[in-house]
Amino acid sequence: MRNGDRAASDAILLRLEEITTHYGPIRILEQVSIEVGEGELVCLLGGNASGKSTTLKTILGLVRPTSGRVLLRGEDVTNRQVSYRVGRGMAIVPENRRVFAPLTVLENLELGAYLRHGEDLREEFERVYTLFPRLHERGDQLAGTLSGGEQQMLAMGRALMSRPRLLLMDEPSMGLSPALVEQNFEIIAQIHATGVGILVVEQNANMALSIADRGYVLQTGQVVLANRSSELLASDELKKAYLGR
Ligand SMILES: Nc1ncnc2c1ncn2[C@@H]1O[C@H](COP(=O)(O)OP(=O)(O)O)[C@@H](O)[C@H]1O
Ligand SMILES: [Mg+2]
Repeated sequence: MRNGDRAASDAILLRLEEITTHYGPIRILEQVSIEVGEGELVCLLGGNASGKSTTLKTILGLVRPTSGRVLLRGEDVTNRQVSYRVGRGMAIVPENRRVFAPLTVLENLELGAYLRHGEDLREEFERVYTLFPRLHERGDQLAGTLSGGEQQMLAMGRALMSRPRLLLMDEPSMGLSPALVEQNFEIIAQIHATGVGILVVEQNANMALSIADRGYVLQTGQVVLANRSSELLASDELKKAYLGR
């Protein structure tokens, strides 16, 4: 591993230790080590099929690694269920948003907060509505009838309802118009500013590195670069490994 690979903070929120993940006989991730510090914003870059989504699924527990460990605030959660990890502070904004189309905005948000109740829940709604006033206005609207940008807000809002300490995002700007992509990154920066640790998967390297503290680049399931964003943006290595997009 190279310089800048370590999270700056002593408090490591998430640590992947040499994760290898297979789908059947096919090795998808090989010895992937990634860290996210408390409140840190880290991006995971890489081309199509490089293993980005598989990394997030391994972190959340949707996929079990063949070897290696997933540590959440020092606790080994490698063999824990998804629900346990969510209860310990993980949340995901999945690929392609995946809101519950036949449910209203309000119902979608309530589902995100199934672990919370009463006063606590009111607070979560307030936090999410402050971040996304549009969702407040559209509370009774069916999620399936929202625009793409609004569905992205809803997917993020739903994830935030569980008050995560670690938010995983899988290509949140995919399929959005350039204006919405920009808005999307502003929202991610805003969420980051509230102290949530974020690991965001992106193909848009320049945009992601412009808001992230650090970045990792995956290539065919291996971390080939890890550094502070400013260094990655300036390096020829990144251009060679990945950019040109
Ligand atoms: N459920 C699965 N079963 C078998 N192979 C899969 C499955 N999901 C993804 N893959 C393969 O694993 C590789 C990495 O996929 P993925 O993690 O989705 O990449 P990325 O998110 O970087 O595009 C790809 O070659 C993909 O075809
Ligand atoms: Mg993917």
